[in-house]
Amino acid sequence: MTGFGGAAMNKEKILVLDFGGQYKQLIARRVRELGVLSEIIPGDTDIQKIKEQSPVGLILTGGPNSVYDPASPKCGAEVFKSGIPVLGICYGMQLMTHVLGGTVTEGETGEYGQTGMTVESDSLLYDGLPRLQTVLMSHKDRVTAAPAGFTVTSRTENCPIASMEDASRKLYAVQFHPEVNDTLNGRDILSRFIYRVCGARGGYNMADYEKEAIAAIREQVGSGRVVLGLSGGVDSAVCAALIAKAVPGQLHCIFVDHGLMRKTEGDEVEAAFSGRDLDFIRVNAEDIFLSALRGVTDPETKRKIIGREFVRVFERESQKLGSVDFMAQGTIYPDIIESGTNNSAVIKSHHDVGGLPDDIKFKGIVEPLKPLFKDEVRRLGTQLGLPDSIVHRQPFPGPGLAVRVIGELTKERLDTLRDADFIFREEMKNSPVHADQYFAVLTDMRSVGVVGDFRTYDYILALRAVQTSDFMTCETAPIPYDILFRSAKRIVNEVRGVGRVVYDITDKPPATIEWE
Ligand code: XMP
Repeated sequence: MTGFGGAAMNKEKILVLDFGGQYKQLIARRVRELGVLSEIIPGDTDIQKIKEQSPVGLILTGGPNSVYDPASPKCGAEVFKSGIPVLGICYGMQLMTHVLGGTVTEGETGEYGQTGMTVESDSLLYDGLPRLQTVLMSHKDRVTAAPAGFTVTSRTENCPIASMEDASRKLYAVQFHPEVNDTLNGRDILSRFIYRVCGARGGYNMADYEKEAIAAIREQVGSGRVVLGLSGGVDSAVCAALIAKAVPGQLHCIFVDHGLMRKTEGDEVEAAFSGRDLDFIRVNAEDIFLSALRGVTDPETKRKIIGREFVRVFERESQKLGSVDFMAQGTIYPDIIESGTNNSAVIKSHHDVGGLPDDIKFKGIVEPLKPLFKDEVRRLGTQLGLPDSIVHRQPFPGPGLAVRVIGELTKERLDTLRDADFIFREEMKNSPVHADQYFAVLTDMRSVGVVGDFRTYDYILALRAVQTSDFMTCETAPIPYDILFRSAKRIVNEVRGVGRVVYDITDKPPATIEWE
């Protein structure tokens, strides 16, 4: 939870030392869920600086490098001599081994995916847990000789040292990833590290997060004025509620209706926010967006144009407000990694990430939700007193229906999608199977059909419904056939321009949730 250090300086906390692993925020989040504040700091942070924060424990993340790469991130040996309990995960385990004189062997094929693990000796980490466990492995190199003083505590078929420890020095290491759901006892293992090894007392919760975030916002914003783009989605709404609570009277919310909203959504957003304690400004900018997008079919170009226009409209509107010092954004953690700002590959550029162009004159950006995952944002929203209709609204991408109309965008095609999507959402209200996000996608592919005696040649529409807790991965929701049948029937009968309906049954990965 970087950025809240000042307010949380003296709290019980676990520091996560970052060595570039994909899952570092997930580790921090798991620790928070288990009731202890956790902050991510660079892996090479000086031990003195670490000690100043008095952490009850350290977790070393995984990372893409090999410890033999001279440029790979490292921590000093002092980290392991400080007396602070350490848990090394994946690369963190290899680094611990390398620094303490064990052997790490470079692997050729590696080990990826779920695998069976056998616990081989008593360990606090596995106390009371089954001897045979399922863990997620994702590594090339592996430890082949533990450092002196260490006991090997588990193995898998391909990894003879799947975990090891020197309990007397409180040094623990696991080759697998306890932070992911695929490691079935992962949460229990982390909990044992936090409570049994580190002796944490726990009790950290969302109310603490709120307090720290409010203190951090006050510190950053002072008496300045803040402008926020309200999309109607959970993230920006929670962000607005939080900022309004931190600095009442200083927040102006601009709702840019880009004409890419779902059916009736613009009015709903207005109704939900107009009566609240915010300066709410609605800008009807459909024409601006549709003309900027005319003829554009490439998904990334669409996103970039929408991002650009959004900022422009925003700038214009905020200028009307007179002097505004800060811009707020409801960026959450999955937005950041998927936009490639974390040294990972760019999957999609989420238009609300990546900073502002130079010509926008704000002192800074306020992003109080940055370390949170979606479900944490919802919990915070409820805590801030937002209604369920907003807090449990399904997520909607910033570029809106632009990324759900494949190919060129026209008002007509958008309306077709809006009508079909509305029907599907209506039918989904009757579904006994919960889906975290569900919507329709209008493809650019047409197919032949027959209505009465006539041949038709209309667009194919896809329905998508997924189950996920963090939107970084998802599974297709097993929606009952009768709901799919009824939706399809109603759509082809009631919506002009749709000739065929299909159901997308692809998980993420390899697919993403949105089609573009
Ligand atoms: P993907 O398609 O990347 O989506 O698997 C993951 C989640 O993020 C939403 N999404 C976005 N949200 N701006 C946003 O604020 C965007 O540009 C954007 N693109 C996708 C998507 O709806 C899903 O919930």
